[in-house]
Amino acid sequence: MNAISARNLVKTYGRVEAVNNISFDVKEQSIFGFLGPNGAGKSTTQRILTGVVIPEAGSVEIMGYSLFEQPTEAKQEIGVVPEQANVYGDLTAWENLMFIAEIYCMNKLKAEKRAAELLNLFTLYEKRNFKAKGFSKGMKQRLLLCMALLSDPKILFLDEPTTGLDVESKQIIRDVIRRFHEQGKTIFLSTHDIEEANMLCHEVAIINQGRIAVIDRPANLKQSIQKLNWLEVTFGGRVPEEKEFAGLDGVEQVKKSGHSFILYSSHPGKVIPSLGKLIEEKELELISLHTQEPSLEEVFLHFINNEEAYRKGA
Ligand SMILES: Nc1ncnc2c1ncn2[C@@H]1O[C@H](COP(=O)(O)OP(=O)(O)OP(=O)(O)O)[C@@H](O)[C@H]1O
Ligand SMILES: [Mg+2]
Repeated sequence: MNAISARNLVKTYGRVEAVNNISFDVKEQSIFGFLGPNGAGKSTTQRILTGVVIPEAGSVEIMGYSLFEQPTEAKQEIGVVPEQANVYGDLTAWENLMFIAEIYCMNKLKAEKRAAELLNLFTLYEKRNFKAKGFSKGMKQRLLLCMALLSDPKILFLDEPTTGLDVESKQIIRDVIRRFHEQGKTIFLSTHDIEEANMLCHEVAIINQGRIAVIDRPANLKQSIQKLNWLEVTFGGRVPEEKEFAGLDGVEQVKKSGHSFILYSSHPGKVIPSLGKLIEEKELELISLHTQEPSLEEVFLHFINNEEAYRKGA
């Protein structure tokens, strides 16, 4: 079953097509990354999916409930940390959580038990009786996550949850995301941090200018751009000329960088035997050779910079 199913979502602000006909499915119990640059439409999409913004067109199902026809049922399944959300500064961490418990009409004892568990998980328990206005940005964000998780939702929506935080808070938040996934939750994670998407997400949608460029597993995305594969060879002794590599089987492009050469190839496996022959013939001294697949960053830039390519591929 799909946890989230979005179809043909459209939202414009004046002339800006913030969300331009977006459709996708998020499988239950997966971590779905929504990756895009500033202004791509990530937050607008999240606001639509969480019932804050009404789109001009399209439909959304949350755990099988239509968000626009059965909003109460759909919203009961979700926990949300919006972009630039804030805690109530004059309340303590504990009071912030109890306030949420009241809004959700939760059983008091159950809410207290869960609040204590979550505060521990986010290493905030010791600070529970301190007013939130004294918290660091990372602590506030961790408290917002506790608040979003208090009602034990099946789906968690996070809009750039680690942006601008210190390393420790980032680490805690990422660990908790993984842990909740292990407990069977679904996570919708908007981010512009490519490494974060690569590390955490099972599937990633690359979004740009209100459109989805591509959706796939990070590993497949990297593989889909075969021509970004490359080999790096380093020589001691005589450093050959770039032109000596011309015509090498399987090599599409050669770039010199210091004593090393970067050989771009769709089929790095083909290059290695012919490279061996070349080294022998030219009596070169090989120091190192390694192959590299494209990083998700290269894939991202490829899709963002090649509108043509992705329109065809989408
Ligand atoms: N309330 C609004 N009024 C007018 N324009 C808006 C509004 N919300 C979003 N936009 C515009 O819609 C586009 C998409 O914005 P959105 O906030 O969804 O992008 P984003 O991917 O979340 O960006 P960021 O990484 O900066 O958070 C932008 O051009 C933005 O200026
Ligand atoms: Mg945003």
